[in-house]
Order: sequence, then structure tokens, then C-alpha cells
Amino acid sequence: MTNLQSTPFPIVTREADSLCAEVKNLIKSGVYQITSQSDLLSFLSFDDGTLSIHLNTDNTVLILAIDFVGGKSQHRRQYGGGKNQPLAKACGLDKHPQWTIFDATAGLGRDAFVLASLGAKVTLCEQHPALYALLLDAMHRASEDTDVCHIVERMQCVHHDSISYLKNIDTSQPLRPDVIYLDPMYPERKKSAKIKKEMQILQELVEHTASNNGLLDMALKTAKYRVVVKRPKSAPALDENRPSYTVSSVNTRYDVYVA
Ligand SMILES: C[S@@+](CC[C@H](N)C(=O)[O-])C[C@H]1O[C@@H](n2cnc3c(N)ncnc32)[C@H](O)[C@@H]1O
Repeated sequence: MTNLQSTPFPIVTREADSLCAEVKNLIKSGVYQITSQSDLLSFLSFDDGTLSIHLNTDNTVLILAIDFVGGKSQHRRQYGGGKNQPLAKACGLDKHPQWTIFDATAGLGRDAFVLASLGAKVTLCEQHPALYALLLDAMHRASEDTDVCHIVERMQCVHHDSISYLKNIDTSQPLRPDVIYLDPMYPERKKSAKIKKEMQILQELVEHTASNNGLLDMALKTAKYRVVVKRPKSAPALDENRPSYTVSSVNTRYDVYVA
């Protein structure tokens, strides 16, 4: 489901036939467009069965694909602390492993994958077409891996603005999410070598387009049990709403708003 109209986002590939079915359908509906042009500032490319984003910035080319199977995802799945890690506790999975979670700011899907790996059913909502395509592609690859296919079965991804998506949920119905999770873009930091590539890419892509205005209010009206907001440890709360309590980790704080 998509309500986000914009010019088609370019995908550079000679292997269009091998793209996952969801992306192919979105090419047909004009969300993406196959092109041979590779001198663009930002584009997706599909090679060797993997979709990646390419961003040309200040003489640097940033390239990133999402990988739910190996790398950091695998490490966090194996050694991340399970249901005792702060993200899981903030979302209540230590006591309510069956809770459903709506991740209203899916981004690169890292947090959503952790939550799904702990047993939660997670709906990932992402507004940016390139990030949405990366998520679909990563979920498709993960669905073919015997170690993680059962995890991505619990994940579904929608291309939507979360505020309007949540507005359309009938709050009188039992199907509303138990938990709504928000990880809005952090306040801009000075360009520094310390910013991880993932964060640089998110900042380049969505810095000026993302708006959190009203997202917390909408989440508070819709969540059945709680809303969780990820913040940098020393940042103020997202808006004037006061969290019920917080769960802290080394650099991050989770503000929990009990519904
Ligand atoms: C900091 S990133 C989230 C990172 C994510 N938690 C992860 O683990 O990879 C924030 C993301 O939220 C998305 N976003 C912000 N506001 C949104 C909205 N109203 N609807 C849908 N997506 C939104 C942005 O496009 C961006 O990709």
C-alpha cells in the first residue's frame, strides 16, 4: 500500500528480471524506474541479486545494502542480549512476547529485525521509496535463508507516511498495534568521520523530508499499550508529552509512553 506520490526513483540494473516481485510490481506502478544512467546523485542499483543505494556526496560515494542474514544483524541476533536488551524491555517483549509492533520509522529495519527476532510481529512503515525498496529486497533475501526465514515471516513492510497510515487504523478494532515504535532522525550532527555510513545515508536521504510533527500524538492515540521513542541519551523528549518512564542503554534512551 502506498500513498506517496513522487517522481520514480531510479534503479540501475541489467538484471531487472531477478528483482523481487514486490519491487517489480512497484516499477509497473511507477514508484521506481529502470534506467541505464549511472551519473545520478542518488540511485538504487541491483547487481548479483542485491539491491543497494548509491549516494554521491562531497567527493564520496556512499553505497549500502541491508543485510538481515550476516554482519551486524547476525551478531546482534546471536549476542545482543535477547529479551533483556533495552530495546526489547522498552517494547515490553520481556513480559509480553506476543505483542504486535508498528515500527513507524522503519529506516534500515535494524530495530524492527531485532524485535522480530525476539518473536514480535512487526509492521515496518517507511516513507522513503529507496529505503522501502532496500527493505523489501533484504526481506526477500532473508526469506531464502534457513536461519532467518522464520524471523522475516513475522515482518511486513508498507510504503506509507505513518501519520496518515495510523489515522486510517480503526481504534475501536482489536487489530490496532499493541506497541508503536518511533525512531525519528536525531538532531543534525556536524559532519564527522565518526558518523556511521548508515546514519550518513539516512541523513542524506531523509534529513530534509522527514517530519515528526504529530507522529507521537498520532501514535499515542492509536497504540493499545505503549509508544516507545528512541532518543540519544542526553536529548530532550520528542515533544511536550512526558514519558511514563525511560529505559537506558549506553548511548541511547527509550522513552516509554504507557497508553
Ligand atoms: C533514524 S531512521 C530509523 C532507523 C531504524 N530504527 C533502524 O533501525 O534502521 C528514521 C526513518 O524514519 C522514516 N520516517 C520518518 N518519519 C516518517 C513518517 N512519518 N512515516 C514513515 N516513515 C518515516 C525516515 O524516512 C527514516 O528512514
